[in-house]
Amino acid sequence: MQRTCRFCWGLSALLFALVVATAYMFVIRGSVTASDDGRTAIVISAGERDLVLAEMRGFLESVEAITSGLAENDMKRIADSAKRVGMATSSQVPVTLVAKLPLQFKTLGMATHKAFDDLALEATDMGDGQVVLAKLGELMNNCTTCHAAYRIEPDGGGKR
Ligand code: HEC
Repeated sequence: MQRTCRFCWGLSALLFALVVATAYMFVIRGSVTASDDGRTAIVISAGERDLVLAEMRGFLESVEAITSGLAENDMKRIADSAKRVGMATSSQVPVTLVAKLPLQFKTLGMATHKAFDDLALEATDMGDGQVVLAKLGELMNNCTTCHAAYRIEPDGGGKR
């Protein structure tokens, strides 16, 4: 009887360790490797890379529209383009890709989407160009921080 129990406890401990290890792999660590330029390389499929980079170009397009909008004091254009890359777009990322992204990357990415929503709100509510500009500068810290830390490497598995 006692032996069975010890076996159960052993098995539970093993399963627990497995759950923790899995959570670590998929939630915290992601699919990463070292790279020759000192950044952490995120290894994903070519299709997933296309998706991330398309999202990135969306970010840049919004930054461009917000900058031009500020020069023309066009708060509607600013709010519209910021909303386009807000939290609503981030929910379209497939879970299989989310599991491959390191926790810090996900946190920075989410913070960036949220900052665009905040900026849109500021443009709509108060419409103060100086505040919007300050918010833009602040959120672009996320762009540079993340680009300094990570790069993408396709896993060589072709389009998926
Ligand atoms: C959470 C991390 C992260 C954040 C935040 C982030 N980027 Fe990126 N971005 C990346 C990575 C990783 C790449 C790929 C770089 C590489 O492989 O060298 C990339 C690539 C890009 C590219 C190249 C796209 C292409 O088609 O090649 C652009 C443009 C870009 N980012 C713009 C931005 C802008 C603008 C912001 C901020 C508003 C931003 N990114 C925020 C991680 C991030």
